Amino acid sequence: MDGAQGKCGEVEDIPPLLNVCGTTLQYKTKKQIVTATYQVDFKVFPADRFILLGPSGCGKSTLLKAVGGFLSPVSGRIEVNGAVVERPGPDRMMVFQEFDQLLPWKTVIENILFPMITSHKYSPVEALERAELFLNKVNLLKFRDAYPHTLSGGMKQRVAIARGMAMGPAILLMDEPFAALDALTRLKMQQELLQLWDELHFTVLFVTHSIQEAIILGTRILVLSPHPGQVRAEINAHDFSHENQTSDGFKELQQRIHDMLFAEEASQVEVEANGK
Ligand SMILES: Nc1ncnc2c1ncn2[C@@H]1O[C@H](COP(=O)(O)OP(=O)(O)OP(=O)(O)O)[C@@H](O)[C@H]1O
Ligand SMILES: [Mg+2]
Repeated sequence: MDGAQGKCGEVEDIPPLLNVCGTTLQYKTKKQIVTATYQVDFKVFPADRFILLGPSGCGKSTLLKAVGGFLSPVSGRIEVNGAVVERPGPDRMMVFQEFDQLLPWKTVIENILFPMITSHKYSPVEALERAELFLNKVNLLKFRDAYPHTLSGGMKQRVAIARGMAMGPAILLMDEPFAALDALTRLKMQQELLQLWDELHFTVLFVTHSIQEAIILGTRILVLSPHPGQVRAEINAHDFSHENQTSDGFKELQQRIHDMLFAEEASQVEVEANGK
């Protein structure tokens, strides 16, 4: 396993911004208990673009929800800047896959202002300045007074990203934000996100099940096994971008991750077949 993997709580040179330690997450329904992730460990450092990659149902969204403070671990812990996550907070802003995450009765600018005003993190004047600044960064300033239903899917996602970033969170949590976009818009959004990162060096925890997207966007990739999600590997992807995606190194890494995910899926099928 490559990458920084020190044990939970180990003293390191740079303290992690996010420390996910031995985290088991479950859903308790009336009928059953569903274990979504099992003893997952990873650390995210400032300015990481950290990717959670794994097959459908392996617990990526659940992990993100837990970091967001919407779900508590049944064992292990999650810390942000050394403090245990107990509830949602303005230091962790979420961007989802769905285009309907904006409030439909508010304009674009009002949507971006809303969390800044309700959290009292910024004064109204500062909040407006920040809202316009980040709207400009996602190239939508001229749509400031439009309502969400008049925007395309890609534009709505840009507004959601601007809303998240305008809050100045410690970490931006993104759950497959580009998955529902067409290929060209997705490519453009990936490029824009990387340009924004070049400018602002924010920290992002990004969920995807696209190997290619993970390698292009990520500085580090956590590969998770199928349900319940366990850490399969942590991989360095600092050296890759859109520009070198036809290089041998990129293709080799893509294949390596593919084999990792596929081998895991194949062994799962075997286990299930033997169990029958
Ligand atoms: N609200 C819920 N109640 C019960 N079980 C749930 C709930 N949400 C998710 N699960 C289960 O937890 C497991 C992990 O789900 P999760 O949504 O985190 O997966 P995922 O990796 O994000 O998948 P996908 O790539 O399809 O989005 C799955 O088995 C799922 O059925
Ligand atoms: Mg999901």
